[in-house]
Amino acid sequence: MNATAQDRTVTLLADYRPYPFNLTETRLDVTLLPDATRVRAAIDMAAVPGCEGSDLVLDGGKGLDLRSVALNGTAIDPAHLRRDNETLTIAAAALPSGRFTLQTEVVIDPEANTSCEGLYLSGGIFCTQCEAEGFRHITFYPDRPDVMTTFRVTLRGDLPVLLSNGNPIRQEPGLAEWHDPWPKPSYLFALVAGDLVAVPGRFTTRSGREVVLNVWVRPGDQDRAGFALESLVRAMEWDERVYGREYDLDVFNIVAVDDFNMGAMENKGLNIFNSKLVLASPETATDADYERIEAVIAHEYFHNWTGNRITCRDWFQLCLKEGLTVYRDQQFTSDLRSAAVKRIEDVQALRARQFREDQGPLAHPPRPDRYEEINNFYTATVYEKGAEVIGMLRLLVGDEGYARALDLYFDRHDGQAATIEDWLAVFQDATGRDLTQFKRWYTDAGTPILTMEEHWQDGTLTLDFAQETPPTPGQPDKPARVIPVAVGLIGPDGTELMPTRVLEVTEPRQSFTFVDLPARPVVSALRGFSAPVVLRRQMDDATRAFLLAHDSDPFARWEAGHELAMAALLRAASGAAVEDAALIGAMGRILADDSVDPALRALCLHLPAEEEIAARLAMDGMTPDPDAIHAAREELARNLAQSHAALLAGLFDQMAVVGPYRPDAADAARRSLRLAVMGLLSRIDRGARAQALFDAADNMTERMSALSILVRLGQAGPALRAMQARFAADRLVMDKWFSVQVMAAPPADAARIARDLATLPAFDWRNPNRFRALLGGLAANHAGFHAADGSGYRFHAEWLIRMDSVNPQIAARMSTAFETWPRYDAGRRAHALAALEQIAAKKGLSRNSREMVARMIAAGQS
Ligand code: TRP
Ligand code: ZN
Repeated sequence: MNATAQDRTVTLLADYRPYPFNLTETRLDVTLLPDATRVRAAIDMAAVPGCEGSDLVLDGGKGLDLRSVALNGTAIDPAHLRRDNETLTIAAAALPSGRFTLQTEVVIDPEANTSCEGLYLSGGIFCTQCEAEGFRHITFYPDRPDVMTTFRVTLRGDLPVLLSNGNPIRQEPGLAEWHDPWPKPSYLFALVAGDLVAVPGRFTTRSGREVVLNVWVRPGDQDRAGFALESLVRAMEWDERVYGREYDLDVFNIVAVDDFNMGAMENKGLNIFNSKLVLASPETATDADYERIEAVIAHEYFHNWTGNRITCRDWFQLCLKEGLTVYRDQQFTSDLRSAAVKRIEDVQALRARQFREDQGPLAHPPRPDRYEEINNFYTATVYEKGAEVIGMLRLLVGDEGYARALDLYFDRHDGQAATIEDWLAVFQDATGRDLTQFKRWYTDAGTPILTMEEHWQDGTLTLDFAQETPPTPGQPDKPARVIPVAVGLIGPDGTELMPTRVLEVTEPRQSFTFVDLPARPVVSALRGFSAPVVLRRQMDDATRAFLLAHDSDPFARWEAGHELAMAALLRAASGAAVEDAALIGAMGRILADDSVDPALRALCLHLPAEEEIAARLAMDGMTPDPDAIHAAREELARNLAQSHAALLAGLFDQMAVVGPYRPDAADAARRSLRLAVMGLLSRIDRGARAQALFDAADNMTERMSALSILVRLGQAGPALRAMQARFAADRLVMDKWFSVQVMAAPPADAARIARDLATLPAFDWRNPNRFRALLGGLAANHAGFHAADGSGYRFHAEWLIRMDSVNPQIAARMSTAFETWPRYDAGRRAHALAALEQIAAKKGLSRNSREMVARMIAAGQS
C-alpha cells in the first residue's frame, strides 16, 4: 500500500467510539466566489461529561486554506494546533471548560473542484454534495453522522438565488439567511446558489402546515419540471397516509444540477438531484425515465423521516436508512402503479446487480464491518438487498407487526443516530419475535442457495429443503439463516389448493409436509420472491409451462416463463441443440391471453439477459462463453419471431396507443408490450417497423426503442444523425445517443465504436452522466465488454485511470464492470487482470479506486 502513515486506511465497526464533544449549534457564513469562497464557521459545544481531557479533533483536508482559529473569540496559540492530511487537532489544554464556541475561517476553491463532492460548480451553479464525507472539504468539522446540531447559514454573493437547508429567515439582494431547527449531521448540509428558476407548488399537511414547494431548474427547463413536482406531492400524500409521516418545515426545495455523482441527495429541506431524475418531457424522457423520476423524488422525500429525523450512528449502518427508504419507495411505486410489474422489475434488478455483487470479489454484507472508502459501499447490497431484508422481516412478523414496529421506531428514535441493533430491537419489542438468527441477513454476505426436493406418497407431499451459502471474501463459513419461503399448491386442473403459506426454513436441512391432498399438486415456490435466495429445484419444461399458464402469483408466473427460457438458453449456450418447442408454445399462449396485463406479457417476452445466463453457467461450475451466449440468445429470439410471426404482427397493431403521449402506467404497459414485440419482429422484418416508428414517433420511449433495434441491425446511421441534429443541445438526450450506440452494437464492434465516440468533442467525459453513458453502455454489452481480445477491458482501464484523477467516486464506481472477471476463461482472465493491474499501478491512485481494484485483484489469488 502506498498510503502514508498518517492516512487512515481501514475503518472498523469494532472501533466505533462516541464523539467526546456535544455540539448544539453550527453557524456558517459563506461568501461565494468561484475560485475563493470564504467559509466562516462558529460551532457551539462542550466536552461530554467524563471526556473533559480530550483533544478536539476536526475533519478537514488539504484543500482547506486555514485563515484563523479562535475559541470564544480569542485566537488559539499555534502551539496548540496540529494539522495532518485529514484532520485539525486542538489540544485539550487550549479548550475552555464548559460550553464554548469554536470559530474557524477557511478559503476554498470550488472552481478547481472536479470531484462533485464538497462545494463545486455545475454549469455555473454553486452546489454541494456532503454525503458521506464531503462536508470536511467545506470547513473543519466533526464530519460524522452521530454529531448533530441545528444550523444557521448566511450566504453572500452576487447571485440571483441563494438556498440552504431549513426555513428562510432573510432574503435580500446578495444575501440570504437560513435556519434549520432540526438537529442534523453535517452530511445533510447543502447550499445551492446561482441562476435558477423555480417551478412552484404547495402542499398542506394533514395537521395544517402550509408548505411551499419549489423545483429549481436552469432558465429554459421550467416546462420539464412539472412531473417531478407532481411526483413530490404524491409522495407527501402517500407518506402521511401509509406511514403517518408529515413534513416538518415551511419549504421544500428540489434543485436539478447537471453534474452529479449519483441519482439524488436528501439534504434536509433542500434535495439536490441529478437533472436526469427531474427533467422530463415526452420528447426527451422515456416511460422508464418517468417511472424512475417518480420513484427517486419519493425516495429522497421519504428520507426526511428515514434518514434525516432518524439518521445513522456511523456509516456501517448505512442500510438502516437506505434499505428502509428503498423499501418505502418500492411500496410507493407498487401502490401507484402495478404491484406485480414493480415486483418483477425489482427482482430483475436485484439479480442483475446485487446477486452479481454477492457472487464475486466485491461481496459484502448489507451491514459491512470494515471499509477503506465508504463511498465504495453505496451498493446494490446496501440499498436493494437492504430493502429485501425488510420485506422478509415484514413477511415474518406480518403487516400489523410491521406497522407497530415502525410506529415504535419513529417514537423511540426520532432525533437520534441509530443502529441496526436498534432497528431489530424495535421489531423484537413490538412483536415479541426473537430476531437473533434473522440478524445474519445483515451481518453475513452471500446469496444462499436453497434446494427444494419434492416427494409424493399417498396424498402426502413432502418438501425437503437444504440451504447453503458459498464463502465470500473474509467469511468462509456461513451458518444457516431464516428463509421465508412462500408456497402455493396448484391442482392438476390449475386451481389453487390452499392460500399461500410462508414456510420458515431455519435449519441447514428441513422438511415440511402437506397431508390429505386429493392428487399430486404442482408446487409454486418462492412466491413474490419471498427471500433473496437462489432456488434450485428439478422441474421439467411441461411443469414450467403449467405454472406460466396457471400460477395465481404474478411473480411466480413470470418466473416460470423466465426459467423456461433460461433452460432453453443454457442448453443452447453450452453447445447442445436448440430445443425450444416448449418455450415457443408457452409464449404463444401467454401472448395471446388478453386477460394478462400487457406489461406482464412484455416482461415474459424479454429473454434472460446475456449477463444473467453467464452468471447461471458460472454458478453451475461452467465457464461462460460470451459469444456463444450471445449467439444462442439471438437464435432463440429469431425462432420465437418466426414461430409467432402472425400473432406478433397482430399484437404490434393492437397495442398501438392512440392520443397524445401520457406517462401513466396503463399507456406505458401497452407501449412496453408493443416495443418488446417490435424487438422480436425486427428479427424477421429487417427493422422495417423500427425505422417507421423512429420516423413517426412523437415520444422518446418509442424513438429510443426503435433506435436500439436499428443499432443492433447496423442500420442506424441516418437515425443517429437525425437525433444528433435535433437534440445536440440537450445533454440528457445526448447521453442516450452515446449509450445506445455501444450498448446495442454488435459485440465485435462495441469497443471500437466506444473508442470512436470517445474522440468526439461532444464526449464531455468530465460530466458523470456522459462518462457513465459511454462506459456503462459498453459494460452493458456483455459480449462486447468481454471481447476475447481484451479490447473492452483495455478501453475501460484507460478511461478509469483518466477519470480517477478528476472524479474518484465515478472511477471507482465504474470499475465494478470488472467484478465478474474471475468467472471467464483463462484468456479473458489474463486480459482483465492486466487491465486491473494497470489501474492499480497508476501513481497517486485514489483511495476509492485503490480499494476497489485491490479487492478485485485479490479474487485471482485464491
Ligand atoms: N443518500 C443518497 C440517496 O440514496 C445517495 C448518495 C450517497 C449520494 N452519496 C452520494 C448522492 C454522493 C450523490 C453523491 O438517496
Ligand atoms: Zn437513499
